[in-house]
Amino acid sequence: MDLTHRPRRLRTDGIRPLVRETSLSPSDLIAPVFVDATTDERVPIGSMPGHPRVPVSGIVERVEEVLATGVQAVMLFGIPEEKDAVGSRAYAEDGVVQRAMRAVSEETDAYVVGDVCLCEYTSHGHCGVLESEAKERWERLRRDDVVEDHAADDPTLTVKNDETLDLLARTAVSQADAGADMVAPSSMTDGMVGAIREALDSAGHTDVPIMSYAAKFESSFYGPFRDAADGAPAFGDRRHYQMDPANAREARREVQLDVEQGADVLMVKPALPYLDVVRDVREASDYPVAAYNVSGEYAMLHAAAEKGWLDLDAAAHESLLSIKRAGADLILTYFAESVASSLSATSQP
Ligand code: PBG
Repeated sequence: MDLTHRPRRLRTDGIRPLVRETSLSPSDLIAPVFVDATTDERVPIGSMPGHPRVPVSGIVERVEEVLATGVQAVMLFGIPEEKDAVGSRAYAEDGVVQRAMRAVSEETDAYVVGDVCLCEYTSHGHCGVLESEAKERWERLRRDDVVEDHAADDPTLTVKNDETLDLLARTAVSQADAGADMVAPSSMTDGMVGAIREALDSAGHTDVPIMSYAAKFESSFYGPFRDAADGAPAFGDRRHYQMDPANAREARREVQLDVEQGADVLMVKPALPYLDVVRDVREASDYPVAAYNVSGEYAMLHAAAEKGWLDLDAAAHESLLSIKRAGADLILTYFAESVASSLSATSQP
């Protein structure tokens, strides 16, 4: 055959690494870690193999395990000792995450990121303060012990936006006071980035960046996380504040608003089902783009691998590489440790 172009010429072992367009490094990754105030020992989470809840007393050891793989950053999620209607333990000076952050920032070299949200800390599991009608309904449901029989379609079951801002700002400041290097608001409250920036600045934390969950979709891929962090809404869902999976242009508007309010890093979440959005955000903004490879994306690869249907390490590596190829600079992923370990052990063929 008289072929002028033979793309296969660039696919030999010698040249593949030279023409590779995208690379993955342990320094691109942030590992989520769960710290639990209600336990003295590690509690495995069935749907999240390798990601136990750890007690505050074990958090330094857990973070050291992450660092040993070459990953340098962790994101802390807390399970509090008790929950209430306004999520008080999210912004308590001696809250579970604040205690863990103090220990990790004093005793390790990890870069510590704090997830700023209320859903793990509220008794109703929503990401903010409830509308009074929603609150009454929730109390009635709880009293009658019929929480499962929820009215998901009731439009009154939602959170108050503006009243939630102050609690998020307090949460962010308390985390920065406890040693967080960066805060990451994830509640999809309008104005959250501006409120947090202002509060951090007035508390003297002008150097603490904000990684905004700018385009966070109302996704079914958060299921295993809600087991892990015990943050499932007790009734209804999050569609009144998280984004509609059908919308991509709206993600650009969200990103623009967060940039105007002072976001330093822009996150898209989930990652794999939303790679078009990752690419869009990359093109629409010059700020660093993060993508969150969420719990459901992790759990489904594990489940398939357990059945022998795919090679877990190869599929995990390919997933993270695809997220970078789409335009992400950094990735939050439960695969951080395993992928970083194999990156350090081998050079990719
Ligand atoms: C909210 C928060 C959630 C996740 C990260 N931050 C849960 C939610 O919005 O329901 C999900 C992460 C994952 O699924 O891995 N605090």
